[in-house]
Amino acid sequence: MIKTVGVIGAGTMGNGIAQVFAQSGFSVTLVDVAPAMLDRAKTTIEKSLAKFVEKGKLTAADRDAAIGRLSIATSVDQLADADYVVEAIVENADTKRGLFAQLDAITKPDVILASNTSSISITLLGAATRRPDRVLGMHFMNPVPLMTLVEMIRGQATSDETMRIASELCTRLGKTPIEAADYPGFIANRILMPMINEAIFAVMEGVGTPEAIDAVMKLGMNHPMGPLTLADFIGLDVCLAILNVLHDGIGDPKYRPCPLLRRMVAAGHLGRKSGQGFYSY
Ligand SMILES: NC(=O)c1ccc[n+]([C@@H]2O[C@H](COP(=O)([O-])OP(=O)(O)OC[C@H]3O[C@@H](n4cnc5c(N)ncnc54)[C@H](O)[C@@H]3O)[C@@H](O)[C@H]2O)c1
Repeated sequence: MIKTVGVIGAGTMGNGIAQVFAQSGFSVTLVDVAPAMLDRAKTTIEKSLAKFVEKGKLTAADRDAAIGRLSIATSVDQLADADYVVEAIVENADTKRGLFAQLDAITKPDVILASNTSSISITLLGAATRRPDRVLGMHFMNPVPLMTLVEMIRGQATSDETMRIASELCTRLGKTPIEAADYPGFIANRILMPMINEAIFAVMEGVGTPEAIDAVMKLGMNHPMGPLTLADFIGLDVCLAILNVLHDGIGDPKYRPCPLLRRMVAAGHLGRKSGQGFYSY
């Protein structure tokens, strides 16, 4: 019976994941190495829950109960009693592998370890543990409290039982699980990132301004948000990391990250979270 959930990484995704678990009745421990991120996450969660209350989608009592089920920690050692873990730290294979090895040592042996990775091989993460059958990808979408899809990635060794338990959990969160195989970028980013990358090439080559490119895709293709607005929302560092995984993993030059993207990330222009990307915030 899953009652207590550990979420690691309190950034863009981790705070949303912690929120939906807490809203769905689970006790949640949100872990981050950076105390400032934990403070920011608490504020973000409180604001998001307040919006649900304003819109009449959540009662004030349920909001208070959700906040009451949430605790924070700066070390994964606090997850010894967790029944389920979702990792949402930086998109770096070595860092994630190190964390999975640590989680394997700390958590109960039957606990499922899920990664929110956008592109990194689940098989590789599972191989850092002694329980690769209990490792899978649970790729939530941003913003997590609003988006219903969870892409479920089955690693080479992930068991049917693990996929079943994780899918049931998604349903309890009010989300829709869709299975994808363990190839670079899975389904979502295999298709989304080349479009975002192409939009960045179009900016670099002067095909159009960011405003013009976004307007064409919104008004002409009926996308709810232009690709450059979306890139800023995702985080340009995250986009670059995903494109590197696609490029390295598939080996096709068409996935080469745009040099302008590299330059913006090097300058610390990471999009919305840094205040500057294709737009200013
Ligand atoms: N941003 C998106 O739209 C999006 C969407 C789906 C999936 N993802 C994936 O989710 C994961 C997190 O992305 P994000 O955008 O939330 O990143 P982020 O940069 O906003 O947050 C990452 C957090 O992880 C923390 N962290 C780093 N190393 C840690 C460690 N060893 N232990 C504990 N905490 C650590 C950082 O302090 C930071 O708070 C990535 O794998 C990313 O690919 C992102």
